Amino acid sequence: MQFRPMRHHEYYAGLPRRARYNLSDACGATATLNDLLSPKEIAEVASAPLIYGSVPGREDLRAAIYQLYQALYPDLGTDHITVLSGTEEGLFSIMAALLEPGDEVIGMLPCYPSLSDLPACFGAVFKPVHLHYARQWQPAIEEFAAQITPRTKAIMINSPHNPTGMRLSQGFVDGLIALCDKHGLYLIADDVFAFSDFDAVGCQLNVLQYDKAFLANVLSKTFGLAGVRIGWVMTRHAALTATIRNMKTYNSICQSQLDEQVACFVLNKAASIISRNNAIVQANVTLFDAFVASHKQFSWHKPEAGIVALVRSSAAIAPILQRWFEQDVLALPGHVFGIEGDYFRVGFGKQDFSAALARLT
Ligand SMILES: Cc1ncc(COP(=O)(O)O)c(C=O)c1O
Repeated sequence: MQFRPMRHHEYYAGLPRRARYNLSDACGATATLNDLLSPKEIAEVASAPLIYGSVPGREDLRAAIYQLYQALYPDLGTDHITVLSGTEEGLFSIMAALLEPGDEVIGMLPCYPSLSDLPACFGAVFKPVHLHYARQWQPAIEEFAAQITPRTKAIMINSPHNPTGMRLSQGFVDGLIALCDKHGLYLIADDVFAFSDFDAVGCQLNVLQYDKAFLANVLSKTFGLAGVRIGWVMTRHAALTATIRNMKTYNSICQSQLDEQVACFVLNKAASIISRNNAIVQANVTLFDAFVASHKQFSWHKPEAGIVALVRSSAAIAPILQRWFEQDVLALPGHVFGIEGDYFRVGFGKQDFSAALARLT
């Protein structure tokens, strides 16, 4: 297995220093334990025995995760959920469980680099469905169908989408499931922005109606808690759940008991954290819309959900990003996500977003 650094990490490593502001960050507003937990809860975290935890994840943590999905999947439960170290370990585990050398995986491009580049680590081939600015970044089912060959193993989706901000409809996903079913394919849904539904458009997609589907989510994005390495994979597929859990016994084994305890408390307050962070995203989207309106070289499709968007520039983007970096503002160019041309990604989760924008104007 060959691993090159993931492209955005490679980009960060090539920068001369850290910028004060990260205009491209994909995470929601973060918080500390003091912000989120009561003194009694903090004392409980501090007194958790630092022993191994359970491989699937603490039962009460999986129950708290399931609360997020109960309305959509009333017939599923904690047995269908495995806790892992972020969505990243989730994607790795799903692909390791599914892929054999020579397999093909279809996904959208641009995308979060792991989705396009990880299949190659297992000897598989990523087959792109290209998203276009002129089509509001929306893919067509026929484009996925056209990429299917006898070697295709899975289709991957991510909605709301990183980096474009595009959102897939339930009708589209139903069509994709029919296509997967017809060809015996797995469906992998990277769902990390599913609760970043700042305009209440309803962006939680029912993918687990299909018994060969997986979803992966995490505390990093909507909840803004990337430092609590708690993510989860959910699927109806009992055999693949067992494979992922068996794989975990050779990998992280279990989560940090501190992280699991914090995550239990956090998820019991999920509704308030989600609505606080979505309000921040919504305010920043409005600010950025005004910024785009007053900078004629930029254009975008204002997102309805999620935390990020891809902005098009009619001027060369590299010198612009260079100038912004000199003003202590980092923005990632589109090529990091696999799209050529003059684009940059913007992230709306941060509380210092307006301060970053003020530097640019
Ligand atoms: C679409 C997408 N998937 C997965 C991840 C992995 O994140 P984590 O391991 O923190 O869940 C990210 C992080 O930016 C992402 O944007």
